[in-house]
Amino acid sequence: MQAARIRIANGRILDPSQELDERGDVVIENDRIVGVHWASGHAPASSPAERVVDAESLVVAPGFVDLHCHLREPGLEYKETIATGTRAAAAGGFTTVCCMPNTEPTLDTASDIEWIHAVAHRDAVVRVYPIGAITKGRLGIELAELADMGRAGAVAFSDDGNPVRSGKLLRNALSYARITGRPVVDHCEDHDLVDGGVMHEGSVSSRLGLRGAPAESEEAAIARDLALAQAVGGRLHLAHVSTAHSIELVRDAKARGTRVTAEVTPHHLVLTHAWVAGFEEGVTRYDTNCRVNPPLRTEEDRVALIRGVADGTIDAIATDHAPHDVVDKNCEFDRAAPGISGLETAFGLLMRLVAPTNGDPALPLATIVRALTMGASRAFNLDLGTLRVGALADLVLLDPDAHWTVDVQRFHSKGKNSPLDGQDLRGIVRLTMVGGKIVHEVPR
Ligand code: NCD
Ligand code: ZN
Repeated sequence: MQAARIRIANGRILDPSQELDERGDVVIENDRIVGVHWASGHAPASSPAERVVDAESLVVAPGFVDLHCHLREPGLEYKETIATGTRAAAAGGFTTVCCMPNTEPTLDTASDIEWIHAVAHRDAVVRVYPIGAITKGRLGIELAELADMGRAGAVAFSDDGNPVRSGKLLRNALSYARITGRPVVDHCEDHDLVDGGVMHEGSVSSRLGLRGAPAESEEAAIARDLALAQAVGGRLHLAHVSTAHSIELVRDAKARGTRVTAEVTPHHLVLTHAWVAGFEEGVTRYDTNCRVNPPLRTEEDRVALIRGVADGTIDAIATDHAPHDVVDKNCEFDRAAPGISGLETAFGLLMRLVAPTNGDPALPLATIVRALTMGASRAFNLDLGTLRVGALADLVLLDPDAHWTVDVQRFHSKGKNSPLDGQDLRGIVRLTMVGGKIVHEVPR
């Protein structure tokens, strides 16, 4: 039995929602945070009834909120389930995951949303917030019942995997979003411009002889969406933004007051198209685990994404955890399913940005934590991502200096599809707590 009262003692409390970065204690009673005391404050003496967790030399942060992941249930359980995907989330420090509706069948009715809630209640170890489809079957022809799904608990709407091809439908969806108060999330990719491209169109694709998808295939779609959001209002959220010019478009739109939020993935912040060619030490050539939508871009794009996170143009870091089975990846590059299994490597990958050795602009840990917690939570209007007294006790203990080697066979996720297998990462999630319950713990 777990003690009803837990004290996380003597950690570095890093909570961007309170602009807090101090050493101290966080006290939890049942499912809530009941006290946050730092050295300069007055921490009440510990009571004998509480369990004390020693957080010396660890960072105590709000639990991460992932706005974009694929849990594959229903219908694709051979790739992932709510049970395995949420265990992967817990191991990665995510206490909440928003799951995409590109399942079989598509999550496009209120009863589908209720079904996810029911299965999550039974199987999940972290909070699962479903995202409903924008169009029926994600076919881009007819709007789904957005208001019904919103009432059933859908936190956002998206046809992710597909863009919303019709500007008219997206405009209608944004009008509905004004009623539901829920954002419309677009996967911005103009399929005509992608034109069968399987990686970023540029120097590496020409050298490898693989068909490329140009940066404009994303940028043209984003420009259209921003024009619609500016005209209609509603709430637009841009999934996995990946190019330098996309960042400029979002920055300009925000400056003009457009209601838009945007996310980037850890892999687009750290890896580039060079990984497809295997230029980095220890990386396989033509590794199908590097195939992902949108594709890994150039160094210039990557640096622009980092700057976008630094200046708040990008609100959230989301994993786009896209688990696939070996049979989906063990084939020619251009036939492989796109996607990276990302929940369990997100924190370690992002830590490469905190103290870069390659001349990158550094991102302070506080900025990364902000984008994983408060920034994400605000983008979807969730009341999460904070260590405020009274908040749900969703938190993580991070060990930023500990090293580990990625071994995909040890992933909790069924998706072993990571290009990072064998890589040395710095940054371990030592403990994950959801509603006062410890759901993941790695002893020191
Ligand atoms: C995602 C998937 O596998 O569902 N794949 C990907 O490459 N990102 C779909 C998506 O997020 O677009
Ligand atoms: Zn997508």
